[in-house]
Amino acid sequence: MHQPDWKPNRSSQNPLHLQIYEYLKQKILNGEWTVGAKIPPQRILAQQLNVNRSTVVTALEDLAADGFISSKVGYGTFVANNTWSIISSGAAPDWKTYVESGVHESNQSIIQEINRSEFRPDIIRLGTGELSPKFLPTEKMKGIFQQNTAQELSLSYTEPKGSYSLRTAICDYLKRKGIETSPSSVLIVSGGLQALQLISLGLLQKGSVVFHESPSYVTSIHVFQSAGMNLFGVPMGEEGLKTELLPKIKRQHHAALLYTIPSFHNPTGHTMPEQRRKELLQVCSHERLPILEDDVYGDLWFEEPPPEPLKANDRQGLVLYMGSLSKTLGPGLRIGWLVGPEQVIDRLADIKMQTDYGSSTLSQFAAAHWLQSGLYDEHIFQLRKKLMFQRDTALQILEKYYRGIATWKTPAGGFYIWLKLQEAISMDKLFKRALKAGILINPGNIYDHKDSSHIRISYSYAEPAQLEKGLIRLAEIIGEMSSR
Ligand SMILES: Cc1ncc(COP(=O)(O)O)c(C=O)c1O
Repeated sequence: MHQPDWKPNRSSQNPLHLQIYEYLKQKILNGEWTVGAKIPPQRILAQQLNVNRSTVVTALEDLAADGFISSKVGYGTFVANNTWSIISSGAAPDWKTYVESGVHESNQSIIQEINRSEFRPDIIRLGTGELSPKFLPTEKMKGIFQQNTAQELSLSYTEPKGSYSLRTAICDYLKRKGIETSPSSVLIVSGGLQALQLISLGLLQKGSVVFHESPSYVTSIHVFQSAGMNLFGVPMGEEGLKTELLPKIKRQHHAALLYTIPSFHNPTGHTMPEQRRKELLQVCSHERLPILEDDVYGDLWFEEPPPEPLKANDRQGLVLYMGSLSKTLGPGLRIGWLVGPEQVIDRLADIKMQTDYGSSTLSQFAAAHWLQSGLYDEHIFQLRKKLMFQRDTALQILEKYYRGIATWKTPAGGFYIWLKLQEAISMDKLFKRALKAGILINPGNIYDHKDSSHIRISYSYAEPAQLEKGLIRLAEIIGEMSSR
């Protein structure tokens, strides 16, 4: 939906409706809104521009009178194809059809709404899978670029697998997690999301089936489906994926890959114990089912580290291992890594070169510095304490206001509490009502479309006071919506 990058000037002599008329007219004349494009509803425009609805109505009536727009009863208002300006500038391509025919699937509409609303200054973000800017080391980062070490900084393209010094630093860092690898088996990617993209384009045939925990982060994005793969959710419990189900369903569904988040799972927050990890490796090895291990939250433990990653005990090259700096140092860096057999990494590096010629050298330089200098470890040490405080705050609030309406488990790390409502309710309605009250939540149906009783609460972003205010209001809304 249109997000205006303009607001009327209230101190101008020019009446508001004329300013809005001019703004909308320019959108059409500049070709930003082409013939057939839908004009946002009056109510929304009035909200977005912070004016009365009648002001918007006057502006739209003037535009209609001048032939720029026309309305179809029951459908809305559209850019008309009979204005002199459009005729004189030649017919615009039918962008609507192009937009609808693109190969990549659109985001779920709730996620589109979340992505837009996150930038509303008044919103309380209870669902965001991101660290508060307060927890990101922005000042230290500035310092890194000002130090002499900046001599190593290169603004050239990097080699296909990414900066050698960063890959070496990642190997040292992974060694401490029990993963033995070398720079030639590491690919630097622009965030974990790109690793998923590259895998879907470079390793899997169209029509293949990707197994994942149900619910899972991976169903909230359309990376695999847009590349022609089908997702299949395998039930999970508090100990993670139910490995005993795998042999049977593997044969039924001809799965090509299993995607799993063993540590501080998104969205449930669960961590797979060591024994289950061993079983998973055994079953997948027996079934010859490769594993994609997503460990983007692995460093964010509170009292004790999670068990070793699956990759640490993989002697067969069964596991592709993915990590990222997004949940620890800053998602804006867009730096992640994928570790796997060399032939896989070579193939994906080749595709990456064809896609973007490598990730930002500035980000790679900074990432290498953080990892090599020990700054990363210091930062994580502090971050764990801060996140744990946030988790405890959220738990205390839940204890006080959610007993009787929901249940939850205490996460041992990561960002999320998977709130289970006592009573199933419409997730779409809950999302809308919460948004209206200025609270942004991630409802469970984003991660499993059949889910109508979970909410992913994130304690990583909102300040304690905001967490409290948002959670209290959310409890009231849930209470109002439930039948009892
Ligand atoms: C489990 C998981 N994997 C991967 C990602 C992608 O992160 P990025 O591309 O920023 O590294 C996310 C982000 O939310 C995530 O939760």
